[in-house]
Amino acid sequence: MTDDETIAVYNDQVEKYATLVTTDKPGAILQGFMDALPKDGYVLDLGCGPANSSAMMREQGLRVDPVDASQEMVAHANKTYDINARQATFDDLQELNTYDGVWANFSLLHAPMEDFSKYLKAIHSALVPNGIFHIGMKLGEGMMRDSIGRMYSYYTEEDLTQHVKATGFTILDKTFGEEPGLSGEIAPWMTILSRRTD
Ligand SMILES: C[S@@+](CC[C@H](N)C(=O)[O-])C[C@H]1O[C@@H](n2cnc3c(N)ncnc32)[C@H](O)[C@@H]1O
Repeated sequence: MTDDETIAVYNDQVEKYATLVTTDKPGAILQGFMDALPKDGYVLDLGCGPANSSAMMREQGLRVDPVDASQEMVAHANKTYDINARQATFDDLQELNTYDGVWANFSLLHAPMEDFSKYLKAIHSALVPNGIFHIGMKLGEGMMRDSIGRMYSYYTEEDLTQHVKATGFTILDKTFGEEPGLSGEIAPWMTILSRRTD
């Protein structure tokens, strides 16, 4: 289920968010994801936001499918990069054996906890065998809104690792960090790079 209040915040703050996240060169986490893919691989950028990651992936020869629930994020992405971003929610993901990689960078943290396993299974099914999955999430416990109204589901490192493994992925790498996001609140986060194995 999509949280309308969360999407309204992104619709309202698209310029501010884009300024916060936009870079010219891929960081180590995105580069590691790209390096694990075939040269012209096909990538779903799930909850793409302004699609800055998709633009950098495209620059390195990957084919990208950027999707986001926020109409304004999609419009901003297409205006900035002419990249065929499309409006879709996590619930719309029904492709089978389609993508070489799924990049879910700090987007599934807005999925309600009761839907998380279902979305991970949909990503697993949408990937080709041995496909690559990146997920970035904030660390913590429980569900709550931040100071600007976005709904978050927080997981511990152990919980998130267990969810990813239980879905049928083999963990390849993990990274950890802590930094302020759109709300200015400082939050610890982790990313997991994994491979579809069964
Ligand atoms: C923190 S931003 C991350 C954006 C981008 N992945 C990045 O790394 O900059 C979270 C994004 O998830 C999107 N989102 C939230 N709930 C969603 C849903 N149910 N379906 C699709 N996208 C969603 C938001 O609109 C927002 O663009």
